[in-house]
Amino acid sequence: MRYTYDPIRDVFSKSVSGSEKEKRLAGESAASRVLEGDIVGLGTGSTALYAIQALGEAVKQGLEIRGVSTSFQSSQLAEKVGIPLIRLSEVDRIDIAIDGADQVAGFDLVKGEGAAHTREKIVASAADKFIVAVDSTKVSDILNKTVPIEVLFSARTIVTSRIKDMGGNPELRFSVRKDGPVSTENGNILLDCDFGDIESPLLLSKEISDIPGVVDHGLFVNMASEIHIGRGSGVEIQKE
Ligand code: 5RP
Repeated sequence: MRYTYDPIRDVFSKSVSGSEKEKRLAGESAASRVLEGDIVGLGTGSTALYAIQALGEAVKQGLEIRGVSTSFQSSQLAEKVGIPLIRLSEVDRIDIAIDGADQVAGFDLVKGEGAAHTREKIVASAADKFIVAVDSTKVSDILNKTVPIEVLFSARTIVTSRIKDMGGNPELRFSVRKDGPVSTENGNILLDCDFGDIESPLLLSKEISDIPGVVDHGLFVNMASEIHIGRGSGVEIQKE
């Protein structure tokens, strides 16, 4: 994975893949689902960015919402575009969450290339509606992308061994602009795990969650209410 400086967001972030136009269309389409008074989960990444920017515009036009951010990056952007934020610890439920994904098969997702999946999953699980926005390159018949697993630093060797026993191929994610591994915003490390074709995301999700030392992983199984897919000049919406 490559990291580049993004002068628009004033952050270093992973290189953007997929069609920028499709991401914008999908993000804006997802943002249009937000209603007056909503508490809104604000996802992380280059597609969620477009949803946050669209919501910022709507706030300027008078829409009253409060955002719950899933990362430092999204908090910074939300503040910049004028979305009032509340802390995750202040809410016991969320009206709607909007987020991107690294891969989508049906209503199952792989997330976490931006290392924010633990918080993203908490926010999505607390939301009445979870709207996923992706460009068309993210859609697949079967999940087969590496699954990011957030792990306690001290448990890394044991968890690595357990993942290998399960047939996975784990790789520690390294930082680009510092020596050593990536540290998540929760102070943990990441194992990017290749499981090949994931025949049963639900079973794999449960098996990974059952490993002591795992904080959370990037498989989001049947959590999405709607998938907004940017395709060419339009958006295809899949609903449960
Ligand atoms: C961050 C995520 C992102 O939502 C995912 O990586 C998609 O990002 P992008 O829209 O930039 O492709 O899960 O943890």
